[in-house]
Amino acid sequence: MGQKVSVLFVCLGNICRSPTAHAVFRQLVKAEGLQDKIEIDSAGTGAWHVGNPPDKRATQVAEGKGIQMRDLRARQVDFGDFYQYDYILAMDHSNYSNLYEMALPEHREKLHMFLTFSDEFQETEVPDPYYGGPEGFDYVFDMVGSASRGLLEEIKQKL
Ligand code: 4NP
Repeated sequence: MGQKVSVLFVCLGNICRSPTAHAVFRQLVKAEGLQDKIEIDSAGTGAWHVGNPPDKRATQVAEGKGIQMRDLRARQVDFGDFYQYDYILAMDHSNYSNLYEMALPEHREKLHMFLTFSDEFQETEVPDPYYGGPEGFDYVFDMVGSASRGLLEEIKQKL
């Protein structure tokens, strides 16, 4: 009780899925006035896009729903993240296994497939929209919203 909880969303490039999750979850947290209790960040397992803003297609979908994400910048997951964050949320199985390999055994319980927090989507992965059409970004947005609501409900029990 009275604790702070920290959350890290992880995908491959940190320009599509995880920044969308970061921005959506940040908005939910703010709406509940919990921004001083919950720390949020996102990162990619890959380094190709480090320093870049989110993909324009992701930004456009989010802004269409009133959510800002232009301030976010891509970074790569680093070893310190496993110490710093309480929840490390993988978008797909590949992200999960990369994180699992990086993590010390005692940190692996922090790893989760993000969609396990959704009670609306039966899928286990948030699919990579990067090489697909615009509908992929809408789908990511909806999945991420659902899992974010579930995650926030769980975290609220711990605050
Ligand atoms: P994200 O999407 O992992 O959701 O950010 C991707 C972005 C870039 C690449 C792959 C996935 N890429 O290969 O550059």
